[in-house]
Amino acid sequence: MKGLKGKVAIVTGAGSGLGRGMAVRLAEEGAHVAVFDINDAGAEATVADLSGGQAWRVDITDYAACEQAIGAVNDQFGSVDILVNNAGWDKAMPFMETSPELWQQIMAINLTGPLNMHHNVVPYMLKQGRGKVINIASDAGRVGSSGEAVYSACKGGMIAFGKTLSRELGRKGININTVCPGPSDTPLFADFAGEGEAGEKLRASLARSIPLKRLGRADDVAGIVAFLASDDADFIIGQTISASGGLTMHG
Ligand SMILES: NC(=O)c1ccc[n+]([C@@H]2O[C@H](COP(=O)([O-])OP(=O)(O)OC[C@H]3O[C@@H](n4cnc5c(N)ncnc54)[C@H](O)[C@@H]3O)[C@@H](O)[C@H]2O)c1
Repeated sequence: MKGLKGKVAIVTGAGSGLGRGMAVRLAEEGAHVAVFDINDAGAEATVADLSGGQAWRVDITDYAACEQAIGAVNDQFGSVDILVNNAGWDKAMPFMETSPELWQQIMAINLTGPLNMHHNVVPYMLKQGRGKVINIASDAGRVGSSGEAVYSACKGGMIAFGKTLSRELGRKGININTVCPGPSDTPLFADFAGEGEAGEKLRASLARSIPLKRLGRADDVAGIVAFLASDDADFIIGQTISASGGLTMHG
């Protein structure tokens, strides 16, 4: 892919699952990757897999922490060219059993966190006159997902946010696009599915409902993220693309 060599990419939540796959792929394409995560051990394990990169302990729900760490990345590497807002979290349960405290926690990580990151990264990109942002939403944000009402609202919100910001910033050289994974075999999904026979049954029934007949893997999402981060995607803004084995198909 064109233009990734030497670029500086921040990937949030890259200490685990899909984000690790994205960080590894961007590094393979020649980017320097800053891993932002609250999971120190996971972030260090990711960095060990990268040819060039560094881990930063950043809680994306903390605006000041984002501002400070993004400034430090810019000081150290000389620019911030790519932002992948991947960190996410959910605790699945029927909406009527949830509490306002849980809503706040889910919204802080899946909605406010990415806003904190945009607000602090975009000024560097505007100074450079270019930058690529890829937001990781979910098919839950396109079609809903039982037990994930507030999470789905956040992911749907991120899809709308990316389109709106594309209208504001596209002509200033900032490309913002959204990628929606489907059910993917990661620690987050293991929490959602639960353990034992019930978890296995859910996995099997989801796999049956996916046209490609399997759950996603870390490297299933990494390619589209690298493409959208590259110069090959210079004329693409405000799009939402599912990488979910055909679970949802949009024209
Ligand atoms: N796994 C799936 O089935 C699936 C499906 C659709 C969308 N997604 C989305 O893909 C993204 C990655 O999910 P995953 O399955 O790899 O999850 P994961 O749990 O394996 O990894 C998420 C990472 O985010 C980090 N994180 C959580 N809160 C954070 C915070 N406040 N600040 C910084 N880092 C934080 C965690 O420490 C973890 O390393 C998420 O946005 C998720 O919503 C996942």
